[in-house]
Amino acid sequence: MTEMAQSKAAKAYTGNPENNLTEWEFLALNSELNIADGHARQELTPGQTKIIDELPLLFAEGERRPVEEIERECHRTYFQLLGQHSYPSAPGRVLSCYSSSVAMEILSRALATRMETVALVHPTFDNIADLLRGNSLRLVPLAEDPLHGQDLDDRLLGSVGCVFVTTPNNPTGRVITQERLRRIAEQCAEHDVVLALDTSFRGFDPRAHYDHYAVLQETGCRWAVIEDTGKLWPTLDLKLGMLAFSENLDLPVEKIYSDILLGVSPMILALARRFAEDAAGGGLGELHRFIDGNRELVRAELSGIPGITFPDPDSRVSVERVHLGDRPSVEVWAALRERNVYALPCRAFHWDAPDEGANMLRIALARSTDPLSRSVKALRLVLERL
Ligand SMILES: Cc1ncc(COP(=O)(O)O)c(C=O)c1O
Repeated sequence: MTEMAQSKAAKAYTGNPENNLTEWEFLALNSELNIADGHARQELTPGQTKIIDELPLLFAEGERRPVEEIERECHRTYFQLLGQHSYPSAPGRVLSCYSSSVAMEILSRALATRMETVALVHPTFDNIADLLRGNSLRLVPLAEDPLHGQDLDDRLLGSVGCVFVTTPNNPTGRVITQERLRRIAEQCAEHDVVLALDTSFRGFDPRAHYDHYAVLQETGCRWAVIEDTGKLWPTLDLKLGMLAFSENLDLPVEKIYSDILLGVSPMILALARRFAEDAAGGGLGELHRFIDGNRELVRAELSGIPGITFPDPDSRVSVERVHLGDRPSVEVWAALRERNVYALPCRAFHWDAPDEGANMLRIALARSTDPLSRSVKALRLVLERL
């Protein structure tokens, strides 16, 4: 562990309410009962196990074939799996990155060359806000209800250079419908505002499988989309993020990409392609049923506890928020930690108003059912006493 990581861990160990989400997640990494981070950690399915058994073949393929070919196949299989048939397939229009955070950093740096202010969905995963702010961009919160319900305010659109939306959102699971995406994109086109989407969780929710790229291209707006294989499959963080962008984006994303990386390993591209093929052959439906089952387990195990509610009844993503009534999430976190269970307090998702998340915990559902069940039973005991 580096010195910086050690001091971060020490600070987080005290349950500091100011921790960012990754600092909380960091603490959970070595626990068997880690229900904190949103990475996929469930057991491999038999189909996936077969792919992992063939890793040496994927390595050999990476050595043998031109990386451009493997990358093209990986992109095609991934985008088609999730209904994104109009993704930009011309060479160089989808930039493969080590992770979606790297794609986000590239986009943030590019945005910062042309603008000062970004409107960002609220709440959302805090590293999106942190990376934008880290590039000196000023943020304006876009609350989810108005974002999903009505036209964006013309004055807002006149004052920002980019509208950034996470869909499906983490942690709420809310999905921008096709009609809303079209209208937001039209408004962005009218105001010459960039529309940026983070769709890292789209694989979990068929409502996010309509062809976003067709909608974006039809409106003519300037757009960028961050995609991610990292949340779906338990590949020990062997994953890639992808930054797709419109021809008219007019931001130096390719230049900034080349400042940061040459490319993603062909073995990882081949691995993601194989997982996407397996998903297309039935694995995706199996994953949806698995996450649904784990969500039901969590809701059933916590039902009937005074003050406990589930704020996202329609969510299909691989995380579930629990509203703790008047119990502060940091206290619940500390009591859980005594049982070696680590969940995620939600304050930091509310990057503009942390108190709005002070009584919520997020539970990761992409976990094997047995440790999840044990973790949630411990949570029940804690909640009954607090
Ligand atoms: C919506 C969203 N985007 C991006 C990320 C960052 O992903 P990674 O850690 O793989 O870079 C996360 C992480 O949880 C996320 O929830």
